Amino acid sequence: MKIITEPNELRNWSREQRKNGQSIGIVPTMGALHEGHSSLLEASVENNDATILTIFVNPAQFAPHEDFDTYPRTFEGDCKIAAVVGVDVVYAPNTKNMYPRNYASYVEVERLQDGLCGGTRPHFFKGVATVVAKLFNAADADRAYFGLKDGQQIAIIKRMVRDLDFGVEIVALPTVREQDGLAMSSRNKYLTDEERKRSLCISQALFRSIAQMKNGCVDSDAIIETVRANLYQVDRIDYVSIVDADEMTPVDTIERPVMLAIAVFVGETRLIDNIRFEPTATQTSAPDTLIAQEA
Ligand code: PAJ
Repeated sequence: MKIITEPNELRNWSREQRKNGQSIGIVPTMGALHEGHSSLLEASVENNDATILTIFVNPAQFAPHEDFDTYPRTFEGDCKIAAVVGVDVVYAPNTKNMYPRNYASYVEVERLQDGLCGGTRPHFFKGVATVVAKLFNAADADRAYFGLKDGQQIAIIKRMVRDLDFGVEIVALPTVREQDGLAMSSRNKYLTDEERKRSLCISQALFRSIAQMKNGCVDSDAIIETVRANLYQVDRIDYVSIVDADEMTPVDTIERPVMLAIAVFVGETRLIDNIRFEPTATQTSAPDTLIAQEA
């Protein structure tokens, strides 16, 4: 397994693979790998001739008061995991290589970046889109793997790829959870035992609301109210929203694919989770429409 730190070196390596007819998968991460990350790496290794894991704690997506300095950095352990999975290259640029002096160029995905996490972290998606665009440019991969755990992030990256004609296919994979349901996250390391126990109400609130939607409730406000009530063990709710699954805009009535998204603070730790829901015809159609379809 090769470790690369310079964008140009990565580009040269990718060109070499392409010359030999090899397909390339890329898995962008900030490191502190867990099984959620491994699931993306495994999918890439399985479906491409070569896989690049990127590890870069991206300062552009952290505000000054956020956890950039304390974000867990476990490079050696991450490399061990990557080697076992069968990664070919770990791309771990340093900040100077990514953002040289007088850096001035950013990518913004309008509208999709405004709500949910973008509402309370206004700097965040500009930083994410910019770094992902830079990684895509240097790696020139065929496929890029992202987790649905970060639902707004993946919607934004998909739109950026479409709008800016990146030639990479975005593969979205399901959220990997701990046995009790908590979504895996590098930030779970911050939780004390007591906070970890209280965090369980996040996934439980999501699962209960899915049951409510499956039972035919299409009223977003009613579902959001139940979710909020079920989040009684967290210290602060940042948001609970139901949005269109592609546009990330709030919906009042659930009649098309939606994402129910939650961001909360447990102690000092900000945790996010979401679940997608696609109503079936019987849940959304008025009785007369059904009759029309049958006739
Ligand atoms: P990071 O939080 O390290 O996540 C890297 C990738 O792993 C993302 O695609 C994320 O959605 C996915 N992931 C995280 N937890 C997961 C889980 N429990 N199940 C499945 N996938 C999971 O997301 C970022 O880094 C950064 O914003 C990045 C895209 C690398 C840009 O800096």
